[in-house]
Amino acid sequence: MYEQVNAPRAVYGDGKNVLACGSVEKLPREIRALRGRVQCVYLDPPFMTGASFRRKRSWGEQGWRRGSPALDLPGYEDRFPDEKTYLQLLRRMITAGRELLRPEGVFCLHLDWRMSGQARLMCDRIFGRDRFLNEIIWSYESGGRSKKCFPRKHDTILLYSRSAAYHFDLTRVPLPRQGNRKNHMARGVDEDGRSYSSIVSGGKEYRYYDDEPVYPGDVWTDIGFLQQRDPERTGFITQKPLKLLERLLLPVTRPGDWVADLCCGSGTTLAAAEKLGCHYAGLDISPQAVSVSLARLKAENLTVLCPCGMDGTALLAEMDDAACRLRIRGLDLKGDWIPEKAGPMDLLESWEIGTLEGDTFLSRKRFQRSFIYPALVDSLRPEHGCMPDLMTTDAAGVRRAYRWVDTFL
Ligand SMILES: C[S@@+](CC[C@H](N)C(=O)[O-])C[C@H]1O[C@@H](n2cnc3c(N)ncnc32)[C@H](O)[C@@H]1O
Repeated sequence: MYEQVNAPRAVYGDGKNVLACGSVEKLPREIRALRGRVQCVYLDPPFMTGASFRRKRSWGEQGWRRGSPALDLPGYEDRFPDEKTYLQLLRRMITAGRELLRPEGVFCLHLDWRMSGQARLMCDRIFGRDRFLNEIIWSYESGGRSKKCFPRKHDTILLYSRSAAYHFDLTRVPLPRQGNRKNHMARGVDEDGRSYSSIVSGGKEYRYYDDEPVYPGDVWTDIGFLQQRDPERTGFITQKPLKLLERLLLPVTRPGDWVADLCCGSGTTLAAAEKLGCHYAGLDISPQAVSVSLARLKAENLTVLCPCGMDGTALLAEMDDAACRLRIRGLDLKGDWIPEKAGPMDLLESWEIGTLEGDTFLSRKRFQRSFIYPALVDSLRPEHGCMPDLMTTDAAGVRRAYRWVDTFL
């Protein structure tokens, strides 16, 4: 039979990357160990909107296929008693981020009109004014419908370097040149058949070939907010697009570098870092954020540090002797969102097999629901015929660990 146990640490592969639940105010040891080694720190903290954010999460195979049924879950609090309290937290976040950076490293702070002014002054003091690199304007169509002022339709991303010897390679983010755009330039084709736009200035002709890339400036208008039905969406309302993080990370990192996000939310930065071949460390105060982030990651080499549910939810998994498969048969989960007829697999978002060693779950295989695989596998053939220990994540994002206890012994 399976008995619920506490396993706040889960290890995948060599466990090198880190995803932890906790506050920036008390970094876990595994993240502190990266002090002076991180190439890029990205922070997308609460913006002081005064809102209590919710998270919408589809559940069950049907939910993942059609977007309904969906759960309305608590997201995170973006409410502070006063500006002073907020700014104290922001200062701690910026200082913690700076300490993680290596000398070549770059720091990115994502905010909006509410706090970006104060944050700029704070970063000037913490990093030094001469370490300022950019104030990126990420402009989007959604939001902002005011008629009392111009609609507010951009976020601000501040970039600072740790030292004067920082790494930055703009050629890693080429954009296609819009050669046939109507402007004041003359159009032409050279002797090799390459088309270009040209302008004569000071008696000299400057040619801009259509097949040569251009590079982004500091106003980004070509990356939209994620649409409601975008497959990238996790239900995290403040989720940033992967494309945005890729554009930020590409010029400032190389494969093998460390990237850290201390308010990782749905894990966009970690997913971008993983895609670009970087190591990553993610932290968030919300356990929900940790399970959403994990669901997006391949997690080949990762240590997850997050409290486990210890609520007596019984799991029934049995060997189907005829098929030689371990099959999940029941999950005694309580919640007013659960309809009477829901089967155990409907209630799970992922399950994993592995081995429990003390309070650590060594994961061997993870089955994860996704937009590409909305149905969750309900059985597997155990390796060497041994009953594995299990880890489950329910549709509300709660992780639980189960140890196999052989009652025949
Ligand atoms: C704007 S969201 C980040 C969204 C993220 N960039 C994404 O793409 O999904 C801010 C996150 O900061 C987290 N947070 C708030 N206070 C924190 C703290 N003291 N330490 C760590 N994380 C915190 C919240 O739980 C929330 O997930």
